[in-house]
Amino acid sequence: MSDKAILEYNGEKYEFPVIKGTEDELAIDIKSLRSATKGMITIDPGFKNTGSCESAITFLDGEKGILRYRGYSIEELAEKADFLEVAYALIFGNLPNKEELAKFHKDIKDESHVDEEMKKILDGFPKSAHPMGVLSSLTSALIAFNPSTVDVSSDEDMYHAIVRILAKFPVLVAWTLRKKKGLPLDYGDDSLGYVENIHKMMFKRPNQDYKKNKVVIEALDKLLILHADHEQNCSTSTVRIVGSSHAGLFASLSAGISALWGPLHGGANQAVLEMLEAIEADGGDTKKYMAKAKDKSDPFRLMGFGHRVYKNFDPRAKIIKVAADEVLADLGIDDPILDIAKGLEKEALEDQYFVDRKLYPNVDFYSGIIYRALGIPTEMFTVMFALGRLPGWIAQWREMRLKGEPIGRPRQVYTGENLRSFVELDKR
Ligand code: SDX
Repeated sequence: MSDKAILEYNGEKYEFPVIKGTEDELAIDIKSLRSATKGMITIDPGFKNTGSCESAITFLDGEKGILRYRGYSIEELAEKADFLEVAYALIFGNLPNKEELAKFHKDIKDESHVDEEMKKILDGFPKSAHPMGVLSSLTSALIAFNPSTVDVSSDEDMYHAIVRILAKFPVLVAWTLRKKKGLPLDYGDDSLGYVENIHKMMFKRPNQDYKKNKVVIEALDKLLILHADHEQNCSTSTVRIVGSSHAGLFASLSAGISALWGPLHGGANQAVLEMLEAIEADGGDTKKYMAKAKDKSDPFRLMGFGHRVYKNFDPRAKIIKVAADEVLADLGIDDPILDIAKGLEKEALEDQYFVDRKLYPNVDFYSGIIYRALGIPTEMFTVMFALGRLPGWIAQWREMRLKGEPIGRPRQVYTGENLRSFVELDKR
């Protein structure tokens, strides 16, 4: 197999190296394209055919429905690991041993306080504020109280910035939820596990002791693992490009939260639940919504279906669908929305429009059903996605900074007016 690609244009031939990844993916390295061709660039809206980086963190095979974090399969991690050790593996490269995990968790606990002044910023939001806007703002506001996390030139500085945000972000998530519910803000309990503590901060009632529910904690842990990273998706690419200007980690994460908010991306999990509730309110008429999804004149899309990379089942959707059945059964919940979702999936997988376009359920299709069963409000679903994706964003930002990647600055093809002279106002 050749390690060169030839581009021929206007009687000229240009040679470019071909690089191969560890899973035999091939890419044409066009770093020299513009200089070799005296100004030509490529163009690829949505970057559907364009790689932004070489990365050792997550591998996806969209055709085969494969997802691995640092070489470990998502199926094994979801079954055997916990979220904190998956976060460690994503960020530092390997699953931690007992000592590494214990130190990592202790370092996080030591940083789990959030400056009381931050509550004044939270107070400034109306209860009606969308939690993703609150979370993005609070994440950015954290910078003011943690200025040492901005210029992370040393490994030690970078490590401290990482454990700080892993410690404080769950507090912000819990505060965002409790603000919405009108509950007093709560703090963590160092005697609890990482995910158990998140659940306690989110749900402990002010007048009751915290009651651990093993089923709920395990379901939450699994959901966070399944959302932890997904290579160069929209929000991760946002974190990378903002970080490439050497903006600090927290600023890069705040930008990533905003990108994730969109309904075509992480916001889809909220949109899926709202769609399923609309179908339920409409008497369960899934055929009407299938027709809307296929009608080009109708902006409606079947939320939770389709994916830029997966042209087969999203492996996370398969795991979440099984978990939804288990969690609802364990909690004794009979949610008709789950049956509507399964009916919709069955119809779509047999419909030529969806088959032709290789549209399968993605991670967002079933996740909301579990979040709802765990008592998480619909508007908080994308916040839960962000909580899961935090270690992935950190890992990708760290890899980009450690490799000294250049600032992200794409080119363009100009299609506007050619040179023209200014016209005085009274002559226009
Ligand atoms: C996430 O990238 C990641 O890794 C993201 C993510 C992660 O972990 O970070 O996996 C998380 O964002 C999952 C995706 C959540 N979004 C949704 O569920 C929203 C609904 N899905 C779509 O909007 C869409 O499928 C996207 C945005 C996910 C992917 O869009 P693409 O790759 O740009 O594909 P496209 O829009 O060009 O669609 C190709 C065709 C089009 O029809 P034609 O023009 O060829 O006739 O498929 C159609 C689309 O109209 N299509 C859909 C559809 N998704 C695509 N038609 C109806 N319903 C849908 N959901």
